[in-house]
Amino acid sequence: MSEMNEVTINLGDRSYPVLVGRDILHKTASLLPSSARRVAVVTQEGIPAQYIPEFPGLSVSVHTIGVGEDHKSLTTIASLCSQFAQHGLTRSDVVVGVGGGMVTDVAGFAAASYHRGIPVVHVATSLLAMIDAAVGGKTGVNIPEGKNLVGAFWQPSGVVCDLSTLDSLSDRETRCGLGEMAKYHFIVRENLNEIEFDQRVARCIQIKGDIVAADEREGGIRAFLNYGHTLAHALEIDTNFSIAHGEAVALGVLYAAHVAQQMNRISEDRVNQHYQVVHDVYGLRRQLPEGLFIQSLIAAMGRDKKAVDSLTFVLDSVDGLEVVPGITESVLKGAYKDFESRLATV
Ligand code: GLY
Repeated sequence: MSEMNEVTINLGDRSYPVLVGRDILHKTASLLPSSARRVAVVTQEGIPAQYIPEFPGLSVSVHTIGVGEDHKSLTTIASLCSQFAQHGLTRSDVVVGVGGGMVTDVAGFAAASYHRGIPVVHVATSLLAMIDAAVGGKTGVNIPEGKNLVGAFWQPSGVVCDLSTLDSLSDRETRCGLGEMAKYHFIVRENLNEIEFDQRVARCIQIKGDIVAADEREGGIRAFLNYGHTLAHALEIDTNFSIAHGEAVALGVLYAAHVAQQMNRISEDRVNQHYQVVHDVYGLRRQLPEGLFIQSLIAAMGRDKKAVDSLTFVLDSVDGLEVVPGITESVLKGAYKDFESRLATV
Protein backbone atom coordinates (compact mmCIF):
# COMPACT_ATOMS: atom_id res chain seq x y z
CA MET A 1 0.00 0.00 0.00
CA SER A 2 1.38 3.43 -0.90
CA GLU A 3 1.94 6.07 1.71
CA MET A 4 -0.91 8.27 2.95
CA ASN A 5 -0.56 12.04 3.21
CA GLU A 6 -2.48 14.03 5.77
CA VAL A 7 -2.99 17.69 4.95
CA THR A 8 -4.39 19.90 7.71
CA ILE A 9 -6.70 22.78 6.87
CA ASN A 10 -5.91 25.21 9.65
CA LEU A 11 -9.04 27.04 10.75
CA GLY A 12 -8.61 27.16 14.51
CA ASP A 13 -11.21 25.05 16.26
CA ARG A 14 -12.71 24.18 12.85
CA SER A 15 -9.43 22.73 11.54
CA TYR A 16 -9.73 19.39 9.78
CA PRO A 17 -7.65 16.72 8.09
CA VAL A 18 -7.66 15.81 4.41
CA LEU A 19 -6.40 12.25 3.97
CA VAL A 20 -4.82 11.51 0.59
CA GLY A 21 -3.75 8.04 -0.45
CA ARG A 22 -4.74 4.77 -2.11
CA ASP A 23 -7.23 2.30 -0.64
CA ILE A 24 -8.05 4.51 2.33
CA LEU A 25 -11.87 4.58 2.23
CA HIS A 26 -11.89 2.66 5.52
CA LYS A 27 -10.32 5.71 7.20
CA THR A 28 -13.56 7.68 6.73
CA ALA A 29 -15.21 6.30 9.87
CA SER A 30 -12.35 7.72 11.97
CA LEU A 31 -13.25 11.27 10.79
CA LEU A 32 -16.86 11.13 12.00
CA PRO A 33 -17.78 13.05 15.15
CA SER A 34 -17.89 10.70 18.14
CA SER A 35 -21.46 11.87 18.85
CA ALA A 36 -22.78 10.44 15.57
CA ARG A 37 -25.26 7.57 15.80
CA ARG A 38 -26.70 8.00 12.30
CA VAL A 39 -24.92 8.60 9.01
CA ALA A 40 -26.72 10.02 5.97
CA VAL A 41 -24.63 9.19 2.93
CA VAL A 42 -25.31 11.51 -0.01
CA THR A 43 -24.11 10.07 -3.29
CA GLN A 44 -25.03 10.16 -6.96
CA GLU A 45 -26.25 7.82 -9.68
CA GLY A 46 -23.17 6.33 -11.32
CA ILE A 47 -20.89 6.46 -8.26
CA PRO A 48 -19.86 2.83 -7.60
CA ALA A 49 -21.51 1.47 -4.44
CA GLN A 50 -18.14 0.14 -3.25
CA TYR A 51 -16.96 3.76 -2.78
CA ILE A 52 -19.40 4.13 0.12
CA PRO A 53 -17.32 3.41 3.23
CA GLU A 54 -18.52 1.18 6.04
CA PHE A 55 -19.56 2.70 9.34
CA PRO A 56 -19.65 -0.16 11.85
CA GLY A 57 -22.16 0.23 14.65
CA LEU A 58 -23.91 3.23 13.09
CA SER A 59 -27.30 3.46 11.39
CA VAL A 60 -26.59 4.31 7.74
CA SER A 61 -29.03 5.63 5.14
CA VAL A 62 -28.05 6.27 1.51
CA HIS A 63 -29.52 9.20 -0.46
CA THR A 64 -28.83 9.28 -4.18
CA ILE A 65 -29.06 12.48 -6.21
CA GLY A 66 -29.42 12.73 -9.99
CA VAL A 67 -26.72 13.50 -12.53
CA GLY A 68 -26.40 16.91 -14.19
CA GLU A 69 -26.54 20.59 -13.26
CA ASP A 70 -30.39 20.49 -13.22
CA HIS A 71 -30.22 18.34 -10.09
CA LYS A 72 -27.91 20.79 -8.35
CA SER A 73 -30.97 22.62 -7.10
CA LEU A 74 -32.92 23.79 -4.08
CA THR A 75 -35.43 21.03 -4.89
CA THR A 76 -32.69 18.46 -4.32
CA ILE A 77 -31.74 20.15 -1.02
CA ALA A 78 -35.38 20.12 0.14
CA SER A 79 -35.70 16.46 -0.78
CA LEU A 80 -32.47 15.52 1.03
CA CYS A 81 -33.49 17.41 4.16
CA SER A 82 -36.87 15.60 4.20
CA GLN A 83 -35.08 12.28 3.81
CA PHE A 84 -32.67 13.20 6.65
CA ALA A 85 -35.67 13.99 8.88
CA GLN A 86 -37.34 10.69 7.96
CA HIS A 87 -34.12 8.90 8.91
CA GLY A 88 -34.22 10.71 12.28
CA LEU A 89 -30.94 12.57 11.73
CA THR A 90 -30.17 14.97 14.59
CA ARG A 91 -27.62 17.68 15.13
CA SER A 92 -25.16 15.23 16.64
CA ASP A 93 -25.29 12.98 13.56
CA VAL A 94 -23.40 13.40 10.31
CA VAL A 95 -23.77 13.68 6.54
CA VAL A 96 -21.15 11.97 4.39
CA GLY A 97 -20.87 13.12 0.77
CA VAL A 98 -19.49 10.43 -1.54
CA GLY A 99 -18.77 11.56 -5.08
CA GLY A 100 -17.42 14.35 -7.24
CA GLY A 101 -17.70 18.11 -6.89
CA MET A 102 -21.45 18.25 -7.47
CA VAL A 103 -22.06 15.76 -4.67
CA THR A 104 -19.77 17.51 -2.19
CA ASP A 105 -21.35 20.92 -3.03
CA VAL A 106 -24.88 19.55 -2.56
CA ALA A 107 -24.16 17.32 0.46
CA GLY A 108 -22.26 20.21 2.08
CA PHE A 109 -25.14 22.64 1.55
CA ALA A 110 -27.75 20.13 2.79
CA ALA A 111 -25.60 19.59 5.92
CA ALA A 112 -25.17 23.36 6.35
CA SER A 113 -28.96 23.88 6.16
CA TYR A 114 -30.39 20.89 8.04
CA HIS A 115 -31.01 21.73 11.71
CA ARG A 116 -29.10 24.98 10.94
CA GLY A 117 -25.94 23.00 10.34
CA ILE A 118 -24.78 19.48 11.12
CA PRO A 119 -21.31 17.96 10.57
CA VAL A 120 -20.31 16.76 7.11
CA VAL A 121 -17.44 14.57 5.95
CA HIS A 122 -16.55 14.29 2.27
CA VAL A 123 -15.27 11.29 0.35
CA ALA A 124 -14.04 12.86 -2.88
CA THR A 125 -14.04 10.44 -5.81
CA SER A 126 -13.03 12.77 -8.65
CA LEU A 127 -9.80 14.69 -9.13
CA LEU A 128 -11.73 17.97 -9.31
CA ALA A 129 -13.42 17.29 -5.98
CA MET A 130 -10.14 16.28 -4.34
CA ILE A 131 -8.12 19.32 -5.35
CA ASP A 132 -10.93 21.84 -5.30
CA ALA A 133 -14.61 21.30 -4.48
CA ALA A 134 -14.45 19.06 -1.39
CA VAL A 135 -11.90 21.22 0.43
CA GLY A 136 -12.46 24.75 1.67
CA GLY A 137 -16.11 24.82 2.69
CA LYS A 138 -17.82 26.33 -0.34
CA THR A 139 -21.18 24.61 -0.76
CA GLY A 140 -24.18 25.50 -2.86
CA VAL A 141 -26.64 24.93 -5.65
CA ASN A 142 -27.80 26.63 -8.85
CA ILE A 143 -30.91 28.75 -9.40
CA PRO A 144 -32.25 29.71 -12.85
CA GLU A 145 -30.42 33.05 -12.54
CA GLY A 146 -26.98 31.46 -12.17
CA LYS A 147 -24.68 28.69 -11.05
CA ASN A 148 -23.84 28.31 -7.34
CA LEU A 149 -25.81 31.45 -6.51
CA VAL A 150 -27.27 29.98 -3.30
CA GLY A 151 -25.02 28.35 -0.77
CA ALA A 152 -23.05 28.60 2.43
CA PHE A 153 -19.53 28.39 3.72
CA TRP A 154 -19.64 25.15 5.67
CA GLN A 155 -16.37 23.43 6.44
CA PRO A 156 -16.31 19.64 6.56
CA SER A 157 -15.00 17.79 9.62
CA GLY A 158 -12.68 15.84 7.36
CA VAL A 159 -12.10 14.80 3.75
CA VAL A 160 -10.93 11.48 2.32
CA CYS A 161 -9.29 11.48 -1.10
CA ASP A 162 -8.85 7.85 -2.09
CA LEU A 163 -6.72 8.07 -5.22
CA SER A 164 -7.74 4.54 -6.26
CA THR A 165 -11.19 5.92 -7.08
CA LEU A 166 -9.62 8.01 -9.85
CA ASP A 167 -8.97 4.83 -11.86
CA SER A 168 -12.69 4.65 -12.73
CA LEU A 169 -13.02 8.25 -13.97
CA SER A 170 -13.97 8.84 -17.59
CA ASP A 171 -11.39 10.62 -19.78
CA ARG A 172 -13.54 13.72 -19.62
CA GLU A 173 -13.73 13.73 -15.82
CA THR A 174 -9.97 13.26 -15.70
CA ARG A 175 -9.44 16.18 -18.07
CA CYS A 176 -11.69 18.32 -15.86
CA GLY A 177 -9.56 17.60 -12.82
CA LEU A 178 -6.37 18.26 -14.76
CA GLY A 179 -7.76 21.65 -15.88
CA GLU A 180 -8.12 22.64 -12.22
CA MET A 181 -4.70 21.20 -11.45
CA ALA A 182 -3.11 23.34 -14.19
CA LYS A 183 -4.20 26.54 -12.43
CA TYR A 184 -2.15 25.63 -9.34
CA HIS A 185 1.05 25.95 -11.40
CA PHE A 186 0.38 29.69 -11.59
CA ILE A 187 -0.93 30.20 -8.05
CA VAL A 188 2.43 29.07 -6.73
CA ARG A 189 5.60 29.37 -8.74
CA GLU A 190 6.70 25.81 -8.25
CA ASN A 191 7.54 23.17 -10.77
CA LEU A 192 4.58 21.06 -9.76
CA ASN A 193 5.16 18.73 -12.71
CA GLU A 194 8.37 17.56 -11.03
CA ILE A 195 6.27 16.11 -8.21
CA GLU A 196 4.96 12.58 -8.72
CA PHE A 197 1.17 12.60 -9.37
CA ASP A 198 -0.15 11.27 -6.04
CA GLN A 199 2.07 13.69 -4.13
CA ARG A 200 1.04 16.49 -6.48
CA VAL A 201 -2.62 15.95 -5.56
CA ALA A 202 -1.66 16.35 -1.89
CA ARG A 203 0.43 19.44 -2.73
CA CYS A 204 -2.51 21.09 -4.57
CA ILE A 205 -4.74 20.41 -1.55
CA GLN A 206 -2.11 21.95 0.70
CA ILE A 207 -1.89 25.04 -1.52
CA LYS A 208 -5.66 25.39 -1.43
CA GLY A 209 -5.75 24.75 2.31
CA ASP A 210 -3.18 27.46 2.99
CA ILE A 211 -5.18 29.96 0.94
CA VAL A 212 -8.46 29.01 2.64
CA ALA A 213 -6.80 29.29 6.06
CA ALA A 214 -5.62 32.80 5.18
CA ASP A 215 -8.86 33.99 3.55
CA GLU A 216 -11.77 31.68 4.28
CA ARG A 217 -14.52 34.05 3.07
CA GLU A 218 -12.76 35.22 -0.11
CA GLY A 219 -12.03 38.78 0.86
CA GLY A 220 -8.71 38.65 -0.97
CA ILE A 221 -6.34 35.90 -2.03
CA ARG A 222 -8.92 33.11 -2.13
CA ALA A 223 -9.89 34.65 -5.48
CA PHE A 224 -6.59 33.24 -6.85
CA LEU A 225 -8.29 29.83 -6.77
CA ASN A 226 -10.52 31.24 -9.51
CA TYR A 227 -7.58 31.74 -11.88
CA GLY A 228 -8.92 31.08 -15.39
CA HIS A 229 -12.51 30.93 -14.14
CA THR A 230 -13.85 34.23 -15.50
CA LEU A 231 -13.74 33.10 -19.12
CA ALA A 232 -14.47 29.53 -18.02
CA HIS A 233 -17.84 30.46 -16.51
CA ALA A 234 -18.73 32.46 -19.64
CA LEU A 235 -17.79 29.48 -21.85
CA GLU A 236 -19.98 27.20 -19.78
CA ILE A 237 -22.94 29.58 -20.05
CA ASP A 238 -22.53 30.30 -23.77
CA THR A 239 -22.25 26.61 -24.64
CA ASN A 240 -25.20 25.72 -22.43
CA PHE A 241 -22.81 23.66 -20.28
CA SER A 242 -21.82 21.35 -23.13
CA ILE A 243 -18.23 22.24 -22.21
CA ALA A 244 -17.44 20.84 -18.77
CA HIS A 245 -16.13 23.10 -15.99
CA GLY A 246 -12.55 21.82 -15.86
CA GLU A 247 -12.23 21.83 -19.66
CA ALA A 248 -13.38 25.45 -19.64
CA VAL A 249 -10.89 26.30 -16.87
CA ALA A 250 -8.01 24.96 -19.00
CA LEU A 251 -9.04 27.37 -21.79
CA GLY A 252 -9.67 30.14 -19.26
CA VAL A 253 -6.14 29.87 -17.86
CA LEU A 254 -4.70 30.35 -21.36
CA TYR A 255 -6.99 33.29 -22.07
CA ALA A 256 -6.03 34.92 -18.75
CA ALA A 257 -2.40 34.76 -19.90
CA HIS A 258 -3.30 36.63 -23.11
CA VAL A 259 -5.22 39.26 -21.12
CA ALA A 260 -2.18 39.75 -18.86
CA GLN A 261 0.08 40.06 -21.91
CA GLN A 262 -2.24 42.62 -23.54
CA MET A 263 -1.83 44.69 -20.38
CA ASN A 264 1.97 44.25 -20.46
CA ARG A 265 1.87 42.42 -17.16
CA ILE A 266 3.70 39.34 -18.43
CA SER A 267 6.07 38.50 -21.27
CA GLU A 268 5.48 36.25 -24.26
CA ASP A 269 7.71 33.70 -22.54
CA ARG A 270 5.31 33.53 -19.62
CA VAL A 271 2.35 33.11 -22.00
CA ASN A 272 4.29 30.20 -23.54
CA GLN A 273 4.71 28.69 -20.07
CA HIS A 274 0.92 28.68 -19.73
CA TYR A 275 0.62 26.74 -23.00
CA GLN A 276 3.40 24.42 -21.91
CA VAL A 277 1.56 23.51 -18.69
CA VAL A 278 -1.93 23.22 -20.18
CA HIS A 279 -0.99 21.55 -23.48
CA ASP A 280 2.24 19.66 -22.77
CA VAL A 281 2.09 18.75 -19.07
CA TYR A 282 -1.64 17.98 -18.97
CA GLY A 283 -2.41 17.26 -22.64
CA LEU A 284 -5.42 19.61 -22.54
CA ARG A 285 -5.15 20.65 -26.15
CA ARG A 286 -8.52 21.73 -27.45
CA GLN A 287 -10.05 24.40 -29.62
CA LEU A 288 -12.69 26.87 -28.51
CA PRO A 289 -16.22 25.51 -28.98
CA GLU A 290 -17.81 26.54 -32.32
CA GLY A 291 -20.07 29.55 -32.66
CA LEU A 292 -18.82 31.71 -29.82
CA PHE A 293 -18.71 35.50 -30.01
CA ILE A 294 -16.48 37.60 -27.80
CA GLN A 295 -19.23 40.19 -27.27
CA SER A 296 -21.52 37.56 -25.81
CA LEU A 297 -18.68 36.13 -23.71
CA ILE A 298 -17.94 39.60 -22.35
CA ALA A 299 -21.61 40.01 -21.41
CA ALA A 300 -21.55 36.61 -19.66
CA MET A 301 -18.29 37.50 -17.87
CA GLY A 302 -19.97 40.68 -16.66
CA ARG A 303 -22.73 38.63 -15.06
CA ASP A 304 -20.19 36.48 -13.20
CA LYS A 305 -21.11 36.72 -9.53
CA LYS A 306 -17.47 37.53 -8.73
CA ALA A 307 -17.50 40.60 -10.95
CA VAL A 308 -17.17 43.68 -8.73
CA ASP A 309 -17.69 47.00 -10.68
CA SER A 310 -16.67 46.43 -14.31
CA LEU A 311 -14.78 43.30 -15.20
CA THR A 312 -12.42 41.84 -12.67
CA PHE A 313 -9.88 39.17 -13.54
CA VAL A 314 -7.26 37.27 -11.62
CA LEU A 315 -4.16 37.96 -13.68
CA ASP A 316 -0.54 36.93 -13.65
CA SER A 317 2.30 39.43 -13.23
CA VAL A 318 6.04 39.27 -12.59
CA ASP A 319 5.15 39.18 -8.89
CA GLY A 320 2.55 36.42 -9.24
CA LEU A 321 -1.24 36.49 -9.35
CA GLU A 322 -3.25 39.59 -8.51
CA VAL A 323 -6.94 40.52 -8.57
CA VAL A 324 -7.26 43.19 -11.25
CA PRO A 325 -10.48 45.23 -11.58
CA GLY A 326 -11.48 47.50 -14.44
CA ILE A 327 -10.44 45.39 -17.42
CA THR A 328 -11.54 47.16 -20.59
CA GLU A 329 -13.43 45.68 -23.50
CA SER A 330 -10.64 46.51 -25.89
CA VAL A 331 -8.14 44.50 -23.79
CA LEU A 332 -10.55 41.57 -23.66
CA LYS A 333 -11.13 41.68 -27.41
CA GLY A 334 -7.42 42.03 -28.21
CA ALA A 335 -6.59 39.11 -25.94
CA TYR A 336 -9.33 36.99 -27.52
CA LYS A 337 -7.92 37.67 -30.99
CA ASP A 338 -4.45 36.59 -29.83
CA PHE A 339 -5.98 33.55 -28.17
CA GLU A 340 -7.89 32.44 -31.28
CA SER A 341 -4.82 32.90 -33.51
CA ARG A 342 -2.59 30.99 -31.11
CA LEU A 343 -5.07 28.11 -30.79
CA ALA A 344 -5.28 27.93 -34.58
CA THR A 345 -1.55 27.06 -34.65
CA VAL A 346 -1.70 24.14 -32.18
N1 GLY B 1 -13.29 26.73 -5.94
C1 GLY B 1 -12.70 27.92 -5.49
C2 GLY B 1 -12.74 28.08 -4.01
O1 GLY B 1 -12.96 27.12 -3.31
O2 GLY B 1 -12.54 29.17 -3.54
